[in-house]
Amino acid sequence: MPTYILIIGACGQIGTELTLTLREKHGGEYIIASDIREGSDDLMQSGPFEILDATNYDALEEVIAYYDISEVYLMAAMLSATAEKFPMRAWNLNMNTLFNVLNLAKEKKIDKIFWPSSIAVFGPNTPKDDTPQNTIMEPSTVYGISKQSGERWCEYYFNKYNVDVRSIRYPGLISWKTMPGGGTTDYAVEIYHKALSEGAYTCFLEEDTKLPMMFMDDAIRATLQIMEAPEEHIKERSAYNLAAMSFTPKEMAENIKGVLPKFKIAYEPDFRQEIANSWPSSIDDTNAQKDWNWKAEFDLQKTTETMLENLKNRV
Ligand SMILES: NC(=O)c1ccc[n+]([C@@H]2O[C@H](COP(=O)([O-])OP(=O)(O)OC[C@H]3O[C@@H](n4cnc5c(N)ncnc54)[C@H](O)[C@@H]3O)[C@@H](O)[C@H]2O)c1
Repeated sequence: MPTYILIIGACGQIGTELTLTLREKHGGEYIIASDIREGSDDLMQSGPFEILDATNYDALEEVIAYYDISEVYLMAAMLSATAEKFPMRAWNLNMNTLFNVLNLAKEKKIDKIFWPSSIAVFGPNTPKDDTPQNTIMEPSTVYGISKQSGERWCEYYFNKYNVDVRSIRYPGLISWKTMPGGGTTDYAVEIYHKALSEGAYTCFLEEDTKLPMMFMDDAIRATLQIMEAPEEHIKERSAYNLAAMSFTPKEMAENIKGVLPKFKIAYEPDFRQEIANSWPSSIDDTNAQKDWNWKAEFDLQKTTETMLENLKNRV
């Protein structure tokens, strides 16, 4: 029996690459992309697509029944920077979509869920360096509060209803296929676009703000790896810490200058600085390594080379 998979929020930064990778792996017809808007040509032309508002339980249930879906990847959310501007909308979107999917699994209408968490679950009182899996978590952003609550609910649904939900605390993600959707780490994508188009970038974070980051290929590999791991290997039913690299905007700019020596950077921190200040600088992901063999492949140098190589024909 083939497994039919539904991606919710498929047209976003992660959803696009996740959908394309899953379609390559399993065949386009088995991977149903959905979003409230249409996506890139690649995405729209490589398999089925549904306009679907995941806050609408009945509409979601209907799509799941129609395609006989057994796995859901829930990528719809309002991200950290945008959520500070629309707190209640962010809370409603981030929580209601999660409850809808968790309840469909509780009702045995789907078998397995991937729901992404974030390093935003940590807060200003969390140890900043090598932040452990289990530590103080007092998020000070709307987004972080929604992700931490989401983690608690995932674990609750696993413990009480045996719902097979799996999650990763993604760091800031760097990719070239789709622009980021309103997060605090978006600078680490924008910088490559501007480096190529204008030779200069004004960063919205201070030069020494060190944050955990990851290249998209690693993030997608981690997502597939945790979903394919045998159920008994998944020991964390809240969300796993995940790490690849940590750097400051200044270090990233220096790295880009290695390839584009004339590149210039300036700094004009805005409201996103406060969000970044509340997050860890680096993450300890020993548990993900131990439980499902996680290992990152992209460091900053490889990320810069890959980003500039792929973007140079587009910008
Ligand atoms: N990108 C990152 O750096 C990062 C880091 C940590 C965690 N995450 C998490 O990963 C997930 C995906 O992030 P992303 O960067 O791809 O986000 P994104 O903003 O790029 O994409 C989200 C998608 O969800 C869609 N969407 C919005 N409301 C919807 C609704 N009601 N129903 C269906 N779809 C809806 C949007 O149209 C958009 O295409 C989110 O949960 C996010 O919190 C992302």
